[in-house]
Amino acid sequence: MPNRSTQSTTEQNTIGNLFEFDHDGLPLFRRRRHLIDTQDLLKEEVDCLMEVAALCKKNHQSEVEPLAVLSGKTIANIFYENSTRTRSSFEMAARRLGASVLNLDTKVSSVAKGETITDTARQLVSMRVDAIVQRHSASGAAAHVATELGDKVQIINAGDGWHAHPTQALLDFFTMTEIRGSLSGARVAIVGDILHSRVARSNMWLLTKYGVDLNVAGPPTLVPAGLESFGVTVHNRLEPAIEGCDFIMVLRLQMERQKQGLIPSVGEYKKLFRLDHARLQLAAPGVRILHPGPVNRGIEITDALVDDESKSLIDAQVANGVAVRMAVLYLLLTGKESVQ
Ligand code: CP
Repeated sequence: MPNRSTQSTTEQNTIGNLFEFDHDGLPLFRRRRHLIDTQDLLKEEVDCLMEVAALCKKNHQSEVEPLAVLSGKTIANIFYENSTRTRSSFEMAARRLGASVLNLDTKVSSVAKGETITDTARQLVSMRVDAIVQRHSASGAAAHVATELGDKVQIINAGDGWHAHPTQALLDFFTMTEIRGSLSGARVAIVGDILHSRVARSNMWLLTKYGVDLNVAGPPTLVPAGLESFGVTVHNRLEPAIEGCDFIMVLRLQMERQKQGLIPSVGEYKKLFRLDHARLQLAAPGVRILHPGPVNRGIEITDALVDDESKSLIDAQVANGVAVRMAVLYLLLTGKESVQ
């Protein structure tokens, strides 16, 4: 369980004093320049981040003025793939911390004329941005730009291909710990289109660090071989995967990537894998549902379940996204020497 449950520490770290915030994981996070995935995050860093996120949430929910901890910093959002939640919440998070935000419109940028993603980022570095939040359809895109330009700018991966979406996994983790406290021994299922899911990978890397009993389920063609090496149990049917689960994370069937006949039909997929109230009876009595969005209503999950506030954590995930991204920006961008 993150230290945010530790009364004395939480009491010390009140909303007005982020500058005085202290935690064992803080010096570790201070050494980190980029956030590319959850694989190499230490538990101390995650615990620290969760505690900062809890403070940020209080700030964001209150009427108080934005914090000025990132005053003078500029954060560039470069999204080569569509986004509703991630881009908006990074922008809101940055502004809430006093930073300036530059949103590059990649559809009308010179990327369309053939400029590379590194050269595109380089132009913004020349304009003195401090950090780039990047989403790209290619796995490894964030790591590539970090390798090329990482001494001049900090890179935050907002989703790269099928590889990783670290801030989504961190906000999922935050949301689940808000409900349950420690996730050690919790039974969690990630179900659906695992193959194409960067969210699944980032969650697997993160949750297995915390002793979660993690099941992964999807049609055989949508579950990559060798997933057991993550420390998860793989199922090709929904029912055994969700049995007794405290949390079920439903993934979007990525319709835009289903061109290779990976599923016989959407109707077949719905019959075997759509989560509904009847199937939910197999889970633990207090089971809660997560979905990273966007939701294909009626395909991977029923409308009724999406809108069932006693079960669905989807709105909470979105709300927590701002707080967790505030924490990521704060921890990455403060307490370091200037990068330029
Ligand atoms: N969860 C997620 O990444 O949503 P967006 O694609 O809307 O950012």
